[in-house]
Amino acid sequence: MAESCYLFIFLALFSTFWLCVNSRFDYKDALTKSIIFLEAQRSGKLPLDHRPPWRGDSALDDGKEVGVDLVGGYYDSGDNVKFGFPMAFTVTTMAWAAYFYEHEIKDAGELNNLLDGIRWGTDYFLKASAQPNRLYVQVGDPKMDHECWMKPECMKTPRSVLEINQNRPGTEIAAETAAALAASSIVFRRVDHCYAEMLLRRAKMLFRFADEHQGTFDGACPYYCSYSGYNDELLWGAAWLFIATKDQLYLQYINEETTSAVVNEFSWDLKYAGVQVLLSQLYWEGLKELHTFQQQADAYICAVHPDSPYRQPFITPGGLIHFRDGANSQYVTSTAFLFSVYSDLLARHNVQVVCGAKTLTHTDLMRFAKKQMDYLLGHNPACRSIMVGFGHNPPLHAHHRGASIPVNASTENVTCGMSFALWFNTDTPNPNELTGAILGGPNRTDAFVDSRTNSSCTEPGTYINSLAIGVLAKLAYRAKHHESRCCACDQCHRKTCTSGKIS
Ligand SMILES: *[C@@H]1O[C@H](CO)[C@@H](O)[C@H](O)[C@H]1NC(C)=O
Ligand SMILES: *[C@@H]1O[C@H](CO)[C@@H](O)[C@H](O)[C@H]1NC(C)=O
Ligand SMILES: *[C@@H]1O[C@H](CO)[C@@H](O)[C@H](O)[C@H]1NC(C)=O
Ligand SMILES: *[C@@H]1O[C@H](CO)[C@@H](O)[C@H](O)[C@H]1NC(C)=O
Repeated sequence: MAESCYLFIFLALFSTFWLCVNSRFDYKDALTKSIIFLEAQRSGKLPLDHRPPWRGDSALDDGKEVGVDLVGGYYDSGDNVKFGFPMAFTVTTMAWAAYFYEHEIKDAGELNNLLDGIRWGTDYFLKASAQPNRLYVQVGDPKMDHECWMKPECMKTPRSVLEINQNRPGTEIAAETAAALAASSIVFRRVDHCYAEMLLRRAKMLFRFADEHQGTFDGACPYYCSYSGYNDELLWGAAWLFIATKDQLYLQYINEETTSAVVNEFSWDLKYAGVQVLLSQLYWEGLKELHTFQQQADAYICAVHPDSPYRQPFITPGGLIHFRDGANSQYVTSTAFLFSVYSDLLARHNVQVVCGAKTLTHTDLMRFAKKQMDYLLGHNPACRSIMVGFGHNPPLHAHHRGASIPVNASTENVTCGMSFALWFNTDTPNPNELTGAILGGPNRTDAFVDSRTNSSCTEPGTYINSLAIGVLAKLAYRAKHHESRCCACDQCHRKTCTSGKIS
């Protein structure tokens, strides 16, 4: 300890290196900001206490063309389409954070902000699912929207509406929306019982619809194609419904109607690892019939942790888990979240994960989760934060329409063609800070280019941030209650900074 303390002080003297070496980030600030980003993605009539000051009301006629009210919900990333599939996954994972880390989030003073964010999604899903056997799943024309660079407050591109129904099923999206509503109902049970009941009723209805009318949802292709099929969403939806209702029929469904598989990633498309971690909690709490899921969760950990002999995903030289270019950060936060939750479960039940000759403890899992989050917050070879408005040298050119167009810009006579020249293809930093957005992130050799035109590096995503909330709350809590104020930077003795780079 003493040694690392001296090193810590020594490095702190060189203030240019300090920000990079110091891995004791202000996690609470990162948590607060990660929720503020989700507020910037809100569509519809904004409430008075809305935080990003540069955002205004938008898309107030959504749904009109089919005679329904579809105002509200979230834009998914840097564009202005409301894609129901990633939106539902965003809400499910926000609710999972609130469910598992309620205490930590409350301790950071962020629970009400998070609940408001969840409700912004569930209010929308209630509108979108108001008619039986019908779910409105998308608003906006993805092709025309992407051919324009306009902020949502001023967009003129069509707000086409897409639905699924008995004749045009979409099991993935119906089951994911059921999962979002069921998970949210658990979170709202104690704060607003009636609302929670309403969410749960709708979740059951949507799940039945998903199950009775099976067919792959391809309506969001090529933007959000379901590659993994819908079996994982049925399992995920049934798991959340079982937790929310304790109804044995859902447990039976999990055991008899679905299959599960060992995978190494968790995302809006592929949910097996999430279900396995979620159901492991129930297994350890006494539901022995769920043992297979706990074994598969162990196998997931062994397939991902860098110290495991079975590790599959690529890890960059700087230590970042890297699946593919383009919103890679979603896999970073999803991995960190699952590792954080599983680490807590291991600690709670006093167990470890055995990966062949290697045994991993809850501390090993949490250290890896922290390392992934620390990379995003600035502990990386480029010594820069990947979260907008946070830490050292954060990105200024997020690939985001709203953030890149000045609030008072006159847009009335700007054509879609002109819009790219004016606000996209420029080196000017965004006039509006997209506070808290975790951007797509670096490539496989740790290179991050802060350029608006490089969407693979600089595009944000609601599901990148939703999965950061739980693990940031956990890290904030740990920093506040458990770690001593000095000598806590466990990475200082292993890595030192020279010339602003980690060596
Ligand atoms: C917008 O506001 C900024 C700062 O208040 C000002 O400098 C700029 O001239 C304004 N632009 C327009 C088009 O009104
Ligand atoms: C847009 O074009 C119309 C017609 O030429 C003109 O009357 C109007 O003033 C223009 N608006 C702005 C903000 O430049
Ligand atoms: C990452 O980006 C850097 C800088 O643009 C480039 O030199 C390098 O080849 C890229 N690496 C990969 C694996 O794409
Ligand atoms: C975006 O930047 C990364 C990192 O430098 C690079 O590897 C990639 O090729 C760039 N992509 C585009 C489309 O410029």
